[in-house]
Amino acid sequence: MIDGKTAVFGLLGNPIEHTLSPFIHRILYEETGYNGTYDPFFVPEGQLEFAVKGMNALSIKGLNVTVPYKIDVMEYLDEIDPIAKRIGACNTIVKQDGILKGYNTDWIGLQKSCEFEGIDLNDRHCVILGAGGSARAVAMMCFYNGASSITIINRTLDKAEQICTFIREYANNSDHKLCELRALPIDAYDDIMSKSVVFQTTSVGMHPKVNETPLSAVESQMERFFDRADALVDIIYNPKETLLLKQAKSKGVTTVNGLGMLFFQAVCAFELWTGIKMEPEQLKRGFLKLEKHVYGQEIKR
Ligand code: ATR
Repeated sequence: MIDGKTAVFGLLGNPIEHTLSPFIHRILYEETGYNGTYDPFFVPEGQLEFAVKGMNALSIKGLNVTVPYKIDVMEYLDEIDPIAKRIGACNTIVKQDGILKGYNTDWIGLQKSCEFEGIDLNDRHCVILGAGGSARAVAMMCFYNGASSITIINRTLDKAEQICTFIREYANNSDHKLCELRALPIDAYDDIMSKSVVFQTTSVGMHPKVNETPLSAVESQMERFFDRADALVDIIYNPKETLLLKQAKSKGVTTVNGLGMLFFQAVCAFELWTGIKMEPEQLKRGFLKLEKHVYGQEIKR
């Protein structure tokens, strides 16, 4: 129940009506007994600065930021976490002593989702389909988790090469060892390492265009692609199984959809805002509640 002591959180976006985040945060409050509320805030074009500055005026404890503001929001923050700065996008604002600091919990959410599903990236070959903003965050996640190689496959090769450069530059300025980096055109499946963990980062296959895959132009080569994949993680969660996930599953590849990434990015934001560390049992129960809410049932594992 909301009372005078309830801590207020929320999400800035435009549009915002289909967000699952209030539901997810309600689960986290239920699981931890935390007295919080999380509300969607529709931010009209041109009003982002006022929405962010309003955090202090209204004593809002923390905000998430979604499309189309994840890049623009950085302009209005006092500090940006170094990794979020490298990725070039913030989805979480933390307020500490009146200072607004931006983080990116999307990539940590994906990392935790992989952990939850038992996918270890250390010393693994990772393949990323797509080379947009999400691919950049996923590449960072693979690098951070000790991948032995990262291969970016994209329709526009140039953009895949840019992500390799981005990781190379990051590695050169960090203590982490640089792994093998490759950019490949979309039909170069024979060059993919065997037993790869593949991440699908484009929006192709998302509802309502559920009959598409980013690889559909080269359907005949799918077999060779899936032969080399050990696991396929699609960042899309609607539909529950994209066409690509269905195809992979039918070839015996372990499949994971994007709902875990969404859930765990919320968990990371909650932990940053409240300082509460959620227990594995709470996380498991919470995630199963979310699956049931979104798909009417838990996913068979
Ligand atoms: P985001 O920032 O959310 O990751 P984005 O920057 O629009 O989204 O990136 C979308 C990615 O999906 C791009 O890599 C894009 O390929 P191009 O770089 O060649 O544009 C990829 N993509 C979009 N539609 C595609 C399609 N029909 N087939 C294959 N790749 C596609």
